[in-house]
Order: sequence, then structure tokens, then C-alpha cells
Amino acid sequence: MQIDDKPHFYGRRQGRRLRKAKSALMDSFLPKVKLNPAKPMDFPFVPKKTFLEIGFGDGDHLAGHSAKNKDIAYIGAEVFKNGIANLLSLMTGIKQNDEISDEIKLLPERNDNVRIWDDDIRLLFPLLPDNSLDMVFLLFPDPWPKKRHASRRFVNPDNLKVLARILKPNGILRIATDHMVYKIWTLEQMSKCPDFEWTATCGNDWKHEPADWVETKYQRKAIREGRRPVFLDFVRK
Ligand SMILES: C[S@@+](CC[C@H](N)C(=O)[O-])C[C@H]1O[C@@H](n2cnc3c(N)ncnc32)[C@H](O)[C@@H]1O
Repeated sequence: MQIDDKPHFYGRRQGRRLRKAKSALMDSFLPKVKLNPAKPMDFPFVPKKTFLEIGFGDGDHLAGHSAKNKDIAYIGAEVFKNGIANLLSLMTGIKQNDEISDEIKLLPERNDNVRIWDDDIRLLFPLLPDNSLDMVFLLFPDPWPKKRHASRRFVNPDNLKVLARILKPNGILRIATDHMVYKIWTLEQMSKCPDFEWTATCGNDWKHEPADWVETKYQRKAIREGRRPVFLDFVRK
């Protein structure tokens, strides 16, 4: 924590300049699906379950999962603007080269089962009630492979304590990684954490995609570059 108690974010907040349509989506559509911090669990229906995805990147998994499960409420957190804009594009079907920025202003509230937190998830953590989530996805988190950067890794005792608080008993924390340092690190951290238990009983349980999986950008990159991702599910005791 810094002096002002705001955690430092080490990743990128913005990449290339957004094209017109994506920029218009950020200005006009994001406010319609943005999470209200005063009522973080507020959805316009009574959800069967509530899931959180931390660092959704380009949003492929969040968009695909939420489209398949309309009775589940999803909170997605991401800091990287270009990623958020891409999720909005997937949610609306509006592509970056589309010349329809005026129409975007008229888009109604849609995708009622997704709310976006466009900032560091650690700023939202204190606002999330105890035992409120059924599942948390942390998919291909930045590995920070150098030893001197280990304190930047998202899987750490402080964040695990919060995740244990906000997950319901028997809730699942799903962590995917293609990085062997991060895999070993995660298993070490989780084995030291009394609140979670790894659900795997054999290699098939973590070497293959779970049944409800949607491929992500970083997963595709890993496979292209010859790395084999692992999928680790931990149950909240
Ligand atoms: C390596 S990328 C993976 C993106 C995506 N999950 C995928 O599999 O393609 C990690 C993402 O996590 C986001 N991220 C890292 N720490 C975060 C935090 N504290 N809150 C919200 N997002 C975070 C980064 O901005 C980045 O987009």
C-alpha cells in the first residue's frame, strides 16, 4: 500500500489510441453497464449465482460465459482501457471500424447480467459483502516471473484473505496460468492458505479446460508459443 492507501498498479492502463467506435462505446455504453460502487451486488434480476472475473483482458471469457448463463450475474474487473473497450465491442457486436458512433449513444441498457468495474479490483474489494460470490476467475494473471517482482503477483496472502471472505463456503476460485513459475507459486501460496483446498484428484482435472470454459486471448497466445496452460480450481472451505 502507498501512503494514500491506494494500492499501486504495475500493469498498463492504456495501449494504442482507441478507434472512433470503441471510444464512443467507452463514452456512451460503459456508463450503462458500469458497476455502481454504492450497490455493487445490484442486478436488475435475482441471480441464481454471482461470479467475479478479475483482469478480464480482452473480455472473451467474460462475454462468452455471461452470454451462455443469463441467470448468473457477472462482475468483471479490468484496468486496461483497450481491454474494456474490446469487451464492450463483444457485448454489443459493434466493431472498431464500424462507422456508427452516433447510434452507440442510443444503445439501450443491455447485457443485464454483466457489470464492469473499470479499475483495480483491490479498490472494490472492501465494498463486496462477505459470502457474496459463487465463483472467482483469475485467468492468466500477469506472472511477474522475476523473483524481485514476486510481491506484485496477484495470488498473495492479502488477496487470498479477501477472496476467502467474499466467496461463499464451497465457492470456487479458478486460476489459469501458462507460466510454470506462477503455477508453482500459486500451488505454494494456496497450500499455505487454510481457507482453500485444491479440488484436483488427478492430472486430468487441471491439465484440461474445465467444461464451461471459454478460451482467452492469453491462452491462445500461450498455445501459439508452445506453452500448456493449467486450470486450477480451489474450493472455499
Ligand atoms: C495477462 S492479462 C490476462 C487477460 C485475460 N484474463 C486473458 O486471459 O486473456 C492480465 C490482466 O489482468 C489485469 N489486471 C492485473 N491486475 C489487476 C487488478 N488488480 N485489477 C484489475 N485488473 C487487473 C491487467 O490489466 C491485464 O489485462
